[in-house]
Amino acid sequence: MANKRAIKRGSPTSVVAVFPGSFDPLTNGHVDIIDRSVTIFGRVVVGVLNNASKSSLFTDQERVELIKRQVASYRGRVTVVSFSGLLVDFVKRVDSRVVIRGLRAISDFDYEAEMALINRKLSPDVETFFLAAREENSYISSTVVKQVALLGGDVSDMVPPVVERALRQKWKAKQSESRRTAR
Ligand code: PNS
Repeated sequence: MANKRAIKRGSPTSVVAVFPGSFDPLTNGHVDIIDRSVTIFGRVVVGVLNNASKSSLFTDQERVELIKRQVASYRGRVTVVSFSGLLVDFVKRVDSRVVIRGLRAISDFDYEAEMALINRKLSPDVETFFLAAREENSYISSTVVKQVALLGGDVSDMVPPVVERALRQKWKAKQSESRRTAR
C-alpha cells in the first residue's frame, strides 16, 4: 500500500539534485528550472562549471555570485558551488545521484541525451532528469542573451534583474574599452 505521508502533495522529498551548467550568465530559463526542481527534490545544488579553457563573459566567481544573489530567498535549500572535472564526480561529492537538465526544444535533445548516456556510462548510479522549459523561456539561451546585451539591446524579459544590471556594466565597460582603442 502506498505510504500516504510520502506522497502528500506539496511536500518535497529531501533528495539533493544537481543542476549543472556554465551559467554565463544565469537566465530566466535557468531560474525556472531551479524553482521547479526545489519543489520536486527539496534541495538543489547549482553546479557552476569552472572551465578555464572556455572563454566566458563572466568570471567563475561572478557567475557563482550572481546565482547566489538570485537564490538567496531559498535560505539554504539551493546552494551554489563551482566545480571542475567530471560532473559525475561532483554529483557524488555533494552526496547526490540526480542531475537536472532543462530541455527547450527538440534541438537540445541530441546533445542532452548524449551527455546523459555518457554520464550513466561513467557512473550508472547517477540519473538525469529532464524538465521541459516553459514556452516563454524556450527561445532564451545564455548565448543569445550575451549577444543582445553586448549590443545594447533590452534583455529584461530574459534574465533576472541582478543579471541584467551585471550585463549593463559589462556593456558599459566594453563601450569605454572600444572608445579608448579608437583614440
Ligand atoms: O550550460 P552548459 O554549458 O550546457 O553545461 C554543460 C555541462 C557543464 C553540464 C557539461 O559540459 C559538463 O557536465 N561538464 C563537465 C565535464 C563532464 O563531466 N563531461 C562529461 C559529460 S559531457
